[in-house]
Amino acid sequence: MQIQRRRADGKPHLYEDVVDKIATMIKGGSFRCGERIPSIRAMSDRLRVSINTVSAAYARLEDLRLIEARPQSGFYVLPFEGAALVARRPDAGEDVSAKDVAIGDDAMKIIRRLSDPSLVPLATGAPNTALLPYRKLNALLAAETRKHPVESASYGSPRGNKHLRRQISQRLLTAGCSVAPDEITVTCGCVEAVSLALRATCRPGDAVAIGSPVYYTFLNAIQQLGLKVVEIPTDPSEGLDIDVLRFAFRHTPVRAVVAITNFDNPMGCVMPDANKQRLVELLAHHQIPLIEDDVYGDLGFSGGRPASAKAYDRNGLVLHCASVSKTLAPGYRVGWILGGRFQARIEALKALTNIATPSPTQLAVAEFLATGGYDRHLRSLRRAYAVQVAQMRSAVARHFPQATRVSLPAGGSVLWVEMPDGIDALKMHGQALEQGIAVAPGPLFTVGDDYRSCLRLSASTWSPRIEKAVAALGEMARRGWP
Ligand SMILES: Cc1ncc(COP(=O)(O)O)c(C=O)c1O
Repeated sequence: MQIQRRRADGKPHLYEDVVDKIATMIKGGSFRCGERIPSIRAMSDRLRVSINTVSAAYARLEDLRLIEARPQSGFYVLPFEGAALVARRPDAGEDVSAKDVAIGDDAMKIIRRLSDPSLVPLATGAPNTALLPYRKLNALLAAETRKHPVESASYGSPRGNKHLRRQISQRLLTAGCSVAPDEITVTCGCVEAVSLALRATCRPGDAVAIGSPVYYTFLNAIQQLGLKVVEIPTDPSEGLDIDVLRFAFRHTPVRAVVAITNFDNPMGCVMPDANKQRLVELLAHHQIPLIEDDVYGDLGFSGGRPASAKAYDRNGLVLHCASVSKTLAPGYRVGWILGGRFQARIEALKALTNIATPSPTQLAVAEFLATGGYDRHLRSLRRAYAVQVAQMRSAVARHFPQATRVSLPAGGSVLWVEMPDGIDALKMHGQALEQGIAVAPGPLFTVGDDYRSCLRLSASTWSPRIEKAVAALGEMARRGWP
């Protein structure tokens, strides 16, 4: 039902007063981004107005994109929206040629320092360990190795521990995938899964299409495997641009497509289900495999877990890759791949690469997924990231030049920041290092010339020290604006 703005006699409705009061409090900072505002009942008590009036006010505030309702949780203040990224309109001259990847020494030096623990951590995509259940997990590791002394010290099968694969197959139901444990191969993290998928589907010299800006580790993998890259623009709200991909297929032979379907790194966007289905059908039509990275799928800020593209696969052409690195423990190196029609080849390559994934961490993760309260843990992790991303977004809005645009992630823990043209992100990266701050400059995320004025910021941690670092970056950006 559409809410009327004015009564028939021209006077404002009572709920509009409530809207104005709450909007003023949000804009003035009394209710901060990511914070839960009082429930409808509590607000009606506080303002001495009816529940219906507050309900109407909250609906209007949702329309205004100032708050959002989260099922069974309440109403939350949305991040500042004045500066969301704008989709770049691809033109007929879109460059969809296959390019060599040549990550130079300077770029490698930058990449190596992104996770330097002596720096303020604004650059890494790593999770905040303080938010992970490492004590419980480590206790399970000790208990499981005691319980299975021989198995934990022996070579496992290349396919991986059966108990773990059973747990993963159950969790995959939440992503819309109904798969048997034997269709899963356990890997040393998601990057190994993607790398095995690239090796199973491509030969040196082949071209791989991928969403741009590209997670730099994938550029590295493409380079190391002797492949070429075709960069396809990522729409800030819908992910990989399928129309440009279709256009690319007409001009460039593409051997495989890589897509981070849920909560993209670095854009944070989710590909809508209809697009996932369209993408899978397009690739099936061309018989091109889709390598899906769904490592952030469990980290959405609201609603249920989004589906994976794998849920729409009818041809065994989607190779679905993920891990527990972002939700439980990156150091455990437990990931997996559903290899589809490439599974036998994936397992042969896995056995050749490192025989099997270490047994002890597989045992511990399996037990955590079975008994450790994974869903409860995810709820608190997702809430924490939603608040931190909102805090970082609003800090960027406060400190960076006004024309700066920031992604509006639906999940995950990173922000993509587009500063006004002319601000040199590489130069800023150098200045930031001098001040003890790590940031990931945009040029790392492409083989082309784009993103010179962009940064990726990690919001996996939030503290006064981080806020000060964001303010310092904003100051550098303002100084660097010609
Ligand atoms: C898109 C994406 N895939 C994979 C990874 C790494 O996954 P893993 O540590 O499980 O290898 C990352 C880490 O930043 C990532 O952003």
